[in-house]
Amino acid sequence: MKHSKVVGQGYYVPDSVVTNDDLSKIMDTSDAWIQERTGIQERRHLGRHSGQTTRDLGYKAAMKALGSANLKPSDLDFIVFATLSPDYFFPGNGVLLQQDLGCDTIGALDVRNQCSGFIYALSTADAFIKTGMYKTILVVGAEHHSVGLDMTTRGRGVSVIFGDGAGAVILQANDQSKGILSCNMGSQGEHAEELAVLFPGSKYGWADEYNDAHITPEIIYPVMNGTFVFKHAVVRFAEAIDKVLLDAGKTMDDVSLLIPHQANLRISQFIQKKYGLSDDRVFNNIQKYGNTTAGSIPIAFAEAMEAGRIKEGDLVCMAAFGSGFTWGAVLIQF
Ligand code: ACO
Repeated sequence: MKHSKVVGQGYYVPDSVVTNDDLSKIMDTSDAWIQERTGIQERRHLGRHSGQTTRDLGYKAAMKALGSANLKPSDLDFIVFATLSPDYFFPGNGVLLQQDLGCDTIGALDVRNQCSGFIYALSTADAFIKTGMYKTILVVGAEHHSVGLDMTTRGRGVSVIFGDGAGAVILQANDQSKGILSCNMGSQGEHAEELAVLFPGSKYGWADEYNDAHITPEIIYPVMNGTFVFKHAVVRFAEAIDKVLLDAGKTMDDVSLLIPHQANLRISQFIQKKYGLSDDRVFNNIQKYGNTTAGSIPIAFAEAMEAGRIKEGDLVCMAAFGSGFTWGAVLIQF
């Protein structure tokens, strides 16, 4: 059976930095509150009027990943694009990226699993490679959150957390027993509305209903039961990590670097403490970028590679939890 080797990676974040102090000028919040509860110091925002969208973020990250793999768009045979902030309600961003890259008419799949989106996307791409269906797959996670956040005090429990950005990796079929060793994905739909954007959709409508009075801030902006999400996150992160290690016959002692989805620094620290990991074995960059949802793991991974934190022979564990609820983990041997 083939293995999926990571042969390239890249990330892109917008230039515009929004600090906690910037937010405290437009809503009732403070640098102290945000740092104490989340660890976030600043994030990047494209905003509503930059002329750029999720599509552009994904494209820039994809081009960097292709460059680092020394590949051209024409070398790809499939695209998987994870995002909760697509350019359109439909079609998804995969086909937009296929057009922007000028690829041949290869397949393009969209993954809508929010903060676990990149783990789901990577696991899906890995399965295609293992079956021999595709050889070279581009996997992208990108978000343009700043276009859809409630930037008033009403939305502060959510809007201070999220940032814009994109990351990408290229997976390639390989005969060595290296690359992705194991993956898992989980979900619990009974909690779907604890962290969600409810409109537009078939429940609340989208076309004729657009001007109706029932289109309220509660359904057009993200809602999150933060403490409830936090409690589930710490349990599911560990469950996904334990399973991915067990399935590969490894233990946490074998893991050189844990890359948790950057949801909240306190969640990452809880997981770090649970496994007794030293600081150099956990990668966090939420301080600079906030939660970039599907972009968070590939951005962190590409930064870790750039910083020389991952070397040949290292075992890297990625794990995520988010809206759905969904969660999952991937274990990669370099
Ligand atoms: N600034 C100042 N005060 C605030 C802010 C803010 N930005 N936001 C909320 N508050 C206030 C609340 O109004 C509340 O005030 P009250 O006590 O007077 O009612 C108080 O602070 C505490 O609010 P909580 O929501 O209980 O704060 P908590 O400690 O739970 O922290 C947080 C909130 C940071 C959101 C945390 O719960 C969290 O990180 N949860 C998990 C998030 C997560 O992992 N999401 C999954 C991924 S996201 C995805 O999938 C899309």
